Amino acid sequence: MIGRKTMARASPLLLVLLACGFCFATYNLLTMIMHNRVVGRGAGDESDGLLVSDPIIEMPDNVKKPRNAKLPFHIALTATDAPYSKWQCRIMYYWYKQQKDLPGSEMGGFTRILHSGSPDNLMDEIPTMVVDPLPAGLDRGYIVLNRPWAFVQWLEKATIEEEYILMAEPDHIFVRPVPNLAHTGYPAAFPFFYIKPDQNEKIVRKFYPEEMGPVTNIDPIGNSPVIIKKDLLKKIAPTWMNVSLKMKEDPETDKAFGWVLEMYAYAVASALHGVQHVLRKDFMLQPPWDLETKDKFIIHYTYGCDYNMKGELTYGKIGEWRFDKRSYLRGPPPRNLSLPPPGVPESVVTLVKMVNEATANIPNWNTE
Ligand SMILES: *[C@@H]1O[C@H](CO)[C@@H](O)[C@H](O)[C@H]1NC(C)=O
Ligand SMILES: *[C@@H]1O[C@H](CO)[C@@H](O)[C@H](O)[C@H]1NC(C)=O
Repeated sequence: MIGRKTMARASPLLLVLLACGFCFATYNLLTMIMHNRVVGRGAGDESDGLLVSDPIIEMPDNVKKPRNAKLPFHIALTATDAPYSKWQCRIMYYWYKQQKDLPGSEMGGFTRILHSGSPDNLMDEIPTMVVDPLPAGLDRGYIVLNRPWAFVQWLEKATIEEEYILMAEPDHIFVRPVPNLAHTGYPAAFPFFYIKPDQNEKIVRKFYPEEMGPVTNIDPIGNSPVIIKKDLLKKIAPTWMNVSLKMKEDPETDKAFGWVLEMYAYAVASALHGVQHVLRKDFMLQPPWDLETKDKFIIHYTYGCDYNMKGELTYGKIGEWRFDKRSYLRGPPPRNLSLPPPGVPESVVTLVKMVNEATANIPNWNTE
């Protein structure tokens, strides 16, 4: 605050300079909002990013760091002890280790948050923290409801060196070293085309009251992949858990959102805390729909890849050549899977090659 006396004595030149400063700040602010599609809504920590362009106020420490200073993020992978989860985690961790120390990486430590309640046989292979599952019955058969609860417990119990966290899933493969995409101070997330809060207004409003603002404040995202500051996630995670349980309890919401309920719950919970994410389409690619890995960071192999021998996609029909994680529900895929026929997109070829490279190098692959 500038006192009135000081104001009165201030020279006209100073006032002109101040006015220019404010114009400059406002201009930068607007440009930034337009570029990032990010609006600060008084979310405490979230206003940090906006100060970058303000020439008058002292910049907070985290943005004062030179551009080349690293902002490492911790990779947090929620998982169960089912064979299906385990083999995916092993491949995921293998590729984390390959990319972590390459140029451009800001990847920090790694934790598998094992939410099945007791240790399994991968404790020595992958850094792991065991947390409790939800009390019996509470998940109503929807196992991913355990994710928010797992994060709540981990954030409470663990000592996490990094200020940022990447929430990851077992069927993620790091195709290249990942920088901290939340560099601006805002969390970064991948936009999912099937998460449409604005087209589900009636339902979303049960959990996001009108006084919070338009439903367009809710990002079209899930909790993963997201890179977010630890203190923000600590605020969001308990709300995320509550919202997901409430959504699951409400039959209309449960029916409408089905398997993506817990994604909506994260989107709504973060909006309830006034947090918006920078949407990064390059965060992830999803074969077979995305054809190239170029300039993307994570392969998400959630969709089956079915092709005929001419290299044509036969989606929905079992292909003569196929790679589908669901073919391996009870145990790991064998080493050295056959590569797809000519004509299949680079993304699918790369996926299979990366799976093969991991399984060839992970000791005792077939014994898990
Ligand atoms: C979650 O719900 C419980 C029970 O309704 C409540 O006690 C708690 O305060 C809620 N926490 C948050 C963060 O919303
Ligand atoms: C992998 O399989 C191919 C045939 O699909 C075979 O030619 C090759 O020798 C195998 N490589 C290893 C290391 O087993």
